[in-house]
Amino acid sequence: MNKFTSAIASTLLLSSTCVAGAVDLEVTHWWTSGGEAAAVKVMADAVNKSGHTWVDGAIAGGGNARPMIISRISGGDPMAATQLNTGRDAEDLIKAGLMTDLTDVAEKEGWADIIRPAKLLDACRYEGRIYCVPVNIHSFQWMWLNRKVYEANGMAVPTNWEEFAASAPKMKEAGVTPLAVGGETWQLSGMANVFQVALGGVELYRGLQAKDAKLAASAEMTKVFEAIAAARGMVDNGYVGRAWNDATGMVITGKAAAQIMGDWAQGEFSVANQTAGVDYDCLPGLGVHPVLDTGGDAFFFPKPADDNPEIVAAQKEMASLLVSKEVQVDFNLKKGSLPVRGDVDLESANACMKKGLAILEHAENILPSDEQAFSSDTQGQLEDLWVEFFNDPSLSVEDAQARFVEIIEMAD
Ligand code: GAL
Repeated sequence: MNKFTSAIASTLLLSSTCVAGAVDLEVTHWWTSGGEAAAVKVMADAVNKSGHTWVDGAIAGGGNARPMIISRISGGDPMAATQLNTGRDAEDLIKAGLMTDLTDVAEKEGWADIIRPAKLLDACRYEGRIYCVPVNIHSFQWMWLNRKVYEANGMAVPTNWEEFAASAPKMKEAGVTPLAVGGETWQLSGMANVFQVALGGVELYRGLQAKDAKLAASAEMTKVFEAIAAARGMVDNGYVGRAWNDATGMVITGKAAAQIMGDWAQGEFSVANQTAGVDYDCLPGLGVHPVLDTGGDAFFFPKPADDNPEIVAAQKEMASLLVSKEVQVDFNLKKGSLPVRGDVDLESANACMKKGLAILEHAENILPSDEQAFSSDTQGQLEDLWVEFFNDPSLSVEDAQARFVEIIEMAD
């Protein structure tokens, strides 16, 4: 074989290798903000580098995307891979046998040993099998503050909710919205959960997730409703329908002083070249109870409609890539979340991520997220109550709390 024929042979081998296993993978997710797009590009680049093709299926807004994703899979029009929250949202699809079983790759790669906390992988288990790969740890339990806005108004940067609430009237007088929020259901219910932990306490939060109706009726829970009522007076009138990242943008540009939002907000500060500890501060647990809830995201892989083994093989290769050290570091640094594996070095983590990593070292500071504790139906009822209570000042704390008790009593 001369040089010319050997070159053709190797090209044919390469292209045949590429063609034989290479598939297009339609991937759905709701990561459409600046920071989210930068982060998901890390995943797409890794999949494309592997020889497969990431066909992006972004759907803006988790509240829109989640039902669309679930109905496509249950309706027999599955994508090859999808992001969902690490939790029970895909529970019925797994039970119906519609999701690819990843157990062989999980066991081969020892996911149970490298993914921490273990409850993240437990959220992917059904009847002893693994049906998703967690890709990050996001916690809603954060407040983000624009340091410059406080400094420019001669005010100390708050270190906890109480100091923030006390500073709100003066901030308002300075023409700055104290608290930026978006009116989407998950934003208001997420903020309510943050108040439960920060003002009601970790035991209250854990007890509510254990469906303890007595705690739902407790004085600690009344404080949570009172704080939410007080927060109504700290937001601007344009919050209804505002996307979370637009609220983050208000803090970044100084139109607002702070936002209670998950640590995916960090991705927006990062894209805006803002420096933690200089331009902005972060208060885990509102500076009162520094805890994290292990929310976050996992990728699920619906079974291909034709059971194509090449697609199933590519799904498993993609799952392996998403939990690999390289993707875990690059993706999470851009996403503002924490990696799911403890054996990676985040030397370039910023001051806020370092606060999160330190909290993650202590198991007692790690709480399950609502997606892991309540069914989609119960989550929906809670979200509706928080939205109604925040939007309607005529709904009293007493009446709202009574309805809350009923929901917790019936929770599943
Ligand atoms: C969450 C998701 C995060 C984040 C946020 C806002 O449900 O876990 O990754 O992007 O939505 O889109």
